[in-house]
Amino acid sequence: MAAFATRTGKRVRPHAKTHKSPLVARMQLDRGAVGLCCAKLGEAEVMADAGVGPLLITTEIAGQPKVARLVALRRRAVVLVAVDDMDTARTLSDAMRAADLVLDVLVDVNVGQERTGVAPDGAGELAACIASLPGLRLRGIQAYEGHLQHVYAEAERRARWRECADRMLAAHEGLTKRGLDSEILSTAGTGTCAFAAELPEVTEVQAGSYPFMDSDYAQVEGLPYESSLTVLASVVSRQRGDTAVIDAGWKALSTDAGMPAVKGRPELEYVTKGDEHGGVRGARMTPGERIELVPSHCDTTVNLYDEYVCVRAGVVEAVWPIAARGRIQ
Ligand SMILES: Cc1ncc(COP(=O)(O)O)c(C=O)c1O
Repeated sequence: MAAFATRTGKRVRPHAKTHKSPLVARMQLDRGAVGLCCAKLGEAEVMADAGVGPLLITTEIAGQPKVARLVALRRRAVVLVAVDDMDTARTLSDAMRAADLVLDVLVDVNVGQERTGVAPDGAGELAACIASLPGLRLRGIQAYEGHLQHVYAEAERRARWRECADRMLAAHEGLTKRGLDSEILSTAGTGTCAFAAELPEVTEVQAGSYPFMDSDYAQVEGLPYESSLTVLASVVSRQRGDTAVIDAGWKALSTDAGMPAVKGRPELEYVTKGDEHGGVRGARMTPGERIELVPSHCDTTVNLYDEYVCVRAGVVEAVWPIAARGRIQ
């Protein structure tokens, strides 16, 4: 990803929602990242505690308890926040003014994911509102197209991305034609950052999964990243014919993106066996035998663990805490 930044001239602001680890964040900053994205305040608080930043919180912050936490965070860290609502913008501005602070803000634009974000034709008006508020400083746009990251076929992903790009550029124009600052245009994940780099208006990408990848992302065509994340599991029973029962079930691996893969053994199939157990179909295995599973979704699996055990050539080299694990609010 660092090489991508050098080649394309785009900045990288990696999403920390994947690794939730200030140690990994620091490695990304050391390799040229301009800051980190955080999904939630809790993640940002952990990063700020570790002295990592600047931090872009990519999810809207609403409600008094969170606004109070954001003010406290802003006191000690450089923070940018995505905003998609005028009332929220006013509330944030008032809170920052009361604390004698100014908060940097990006207008969050819906480019097709239908999650957060204003419609592209509303971006200029929201930006004008933000620019008029004394507690906020307009910095630009966030336009994340999360619904496209896992479109496997490259041609289809590119064609659908083009529609998102048109929406993103319409929003961008909504700001520039009002003379408003659009110094940051933050977009894209691991699956689309190569496309985003083709647009001169884009200043940075928010890719998250690339350090780890997963068995679902492995099916997305045209990406240069390999999987580095596995869950170590042990066979605990062989009473079920050619299906060995292992100690890794729903509590060990998220299944929102499908079943995990068995590393290096494509002939084996993982099957669910409940909270505490999984099954591995396709070979007779012995209790105590260990296998590595490649999660189907890195982010949601990482959030189940307290630490990474870092292995090179079969030797454990380090144990890194996943300090923001569970910080989902
Ligand atoms: C707002 C936002 N930006 C960036 C990313 C990173 O995307 P990816 O993990 O596909 O690289 C995510 C992931 O969910 C996200 O929600």
